[in-house]
Amino acid sequence: MASSSRGHFSSRLGFIMAAAGSAVGLGNVWGFPTKAASNGGAAFLVIYLAMVFLLAFPMLVAELTIGRHGQSNPIASLRSIWTKNRAAAALFGIIAMIASSMILSFYSILAGWLMGFAASPILGMLGLQTAADWLVNFSDLRNVLLALAFSLLTIYVVRKGVADGIEKWSTRLMPVLFILFGVMIAYIFTQDGAMEGLKMYLIPDIAHITPSLLVDAMGQAFFSLSLGVGAMIVYGSYLKKDVNLPKTAAQVAAIDTGVAFAAGLLILPAMFVAKNHGVEIFDAAGNLMSSGDLVFTVLPAMFDNMGSAGVLLGFGFFILMVIAALTSSISMLEVPVSCAQDELKMTRSQATWMIGGAIALLSIIISLNFGALFNLVANVSTVYMQPLLGVVWAIVVGWVWHRNKLLDEIKQGNPEIAQSLFWKIWPWYVRFVCPVAILMVFGYSLI
Ligand code: PHE
Repeated sequence: MASSSRGHFSSRLGFIMAAAGSAVGLGNVWGFPTKAASNGGAAFLVIYLAMVFLLAFPMLVAELTIGRHGQSNPIASLRSIWTKNRAAAALFGIIAMIASSMILSFYSILAGWLMGFAASPILGMLGLQTAADWLVNFSDLRNVLLALAFSLLTIYVVRKGVADGIEKWSTRLMPVLFILFGVMIAYIFTQDGAMEGLKMYLIPDIAHITPSLLVDAMGQAFFSLSLGVGAMIVYGSYLKKDVNLPKTAAQVAAIDTGVAFAAGLLILPAMFVAKNHGVEIFDAAGNLMSSGDLVFTVLPAMFDNMGSAGVLLGFGFFILMVIAALTSSISMLEVPVSCAQDELKMTRSQATWMIGGAIALLSIIISLNFGALFNLVANVSTVYMQPLLGVVWAIVVGWVWHRNKLLDEIKQGNPEIAQSLFWKIWPWYVRFVCPVAILMVFGYSLI
């Protein structure tokens, strides 16, 4: 099963950076703050934190454990547990592969736009105004070319493999992201209006806590921790047996949540700074502008109003987004690539080009049928497939896996775990609470 030629993360820090890189993405730096902004700020924050701790974190441990046990691609890892029903293992492994490919196909389009918004002010400064405008205005050609450019970046990193590609680039890019964040937050706090946004973000308004907020917060937590689609299963499979799984999962979840929180500290104040500069942030009905408008209209308008500091700030902001997106997109592509490599005996380079190319084609098709397909693909993959696959993983770990064997796996890297509080609660929790709670929240989202 565990072929010796398989890559591994070379260090614990490397793994944490890669897994946190997968987790920290547009979901954190864009999805979380804009959802928080339109759902009563702090009310969303509180519910989101509860969802991460109560549902997403236990599932992250489950997915990493499945992968580490299998030491193989998600299909084979599932098979190593589901020994009596190999067909089900293959089926759900393939569904996970499809889900992660679908997410990547729409994610590349968004990330492409962000690349355009990063490059635009630079071209503007160089006097290439037509090109600068083209990059930030919606057109089929722009959408296609930028999505392709981002897809190539993703393919470039994944083709290099686990230690030389994914780990190396995550370890390089994640610290850059942290520093950029710090600088931008510090700057925005010096601007007038920032405090108003901060208040909205940190003082909860209980009236906003509704059942649909729970649905949003759960979806956000699952998306943010890259759950359901096999990304964490495949990253777990590159972990060595001496790693303490619950502790590592906790660190990854903490970094992810920390970055989402920090993104809120940046975006909510920035919205009100923009308002102070005369930029509309509420529509005529008094509702906050849509999340796309916030990122692509409100913030650029604010940067524009800030003169040359704004050019730099705008560039930094969008580069930050692109970095976050890239360390996530590589984990999405790694799911099908690892399956093709092992199951179809392709070389990594073949698998990456073929599958990365096919997903890029899907991005092009979505770009050219944007109105009909973009939301459809995003919804099917994130609202339906992610939580339902999460339920399947909970069943695999909670019901299919023999408890003693599960203990044997999780004990490696953590010999005392059998006596811990974690072990008293978690297996039972993943068996009963996780599937039921996920299904309840999911069911509510349907009605
Ligand atoms: N967690 C990533 C984000 O927040 C998205 C993602 C989803 C990555 C599923 C991998 C798998 O943007």
